[in-house]
Amino acid sequence: MHETSPSAPARALTPETLAKAPAIVGLYPQKRSATMPLLHLVQEDRGYITQDDMSWVAELVGVTPMQVLEVVTFYPMFRQSPIGRRHVRVCRTLSCALRGSYALMSELEKSLNCPRGETSPDGNFTLEFVECIADCGCGPVVHVDSSMHENVKPEDAAAFTQQLKATLTDPTYGQKSPVPGTPEWNG
Ligand code: FES
Repeated sequence: MHETSPSAPARALTPETLAKAPAIVGLYPQKRSATMPLLHLVQEDRGYITQDDMSWVAELVGVTPMQVLEVVTFYPMFRQSPIGRRHVRVCRTLSCALRGSYALMSELEKSLNCPRGETSPDGNFTLEFVECIADCGCGPVVHVDSSMHENVKPEDAAAFTQQLKATLTDPTYGQKSPVPGTPEWNG
């Protein structure tokens, strides 16, 4: 049974997650192929992945914890520490950079009260740069949780921040899938 160690004060994974894991492993002819799906499962449950989680996944798929750590550290979507309630990612690759993503990041750091690469002191926002997220014609592009926001200019940062803060008290947030071309899609 999966447990957290005394040195890792993370909450335990839910019974649902623990129950799903063997079925996921069973989907693959090679157990180790389930490594990434299991890591996604863990991260969807708790929001990040602990060393205990990696040992648990390693045992399930028959590899060493170090091999699981290599996967976790290779892919930027996997996290080893908690994040804020809203995960804000600004694209910094060429097309977005030429259209102002670095200036936008500087403005968001101020308006969100959150240095890049960190979580705000109130725990509401985690702000990061990311590489191209495949929406290069509409930069600067900002990805917030599962929503894409296009053409967010540096001068829009304050208004964008207000929109983000409003989502913190919106009980319907995240319940509808954003559709390209709709106001929800663009924030
Ligand atoms: S360069 Fe920003 S989405 Fe591609």
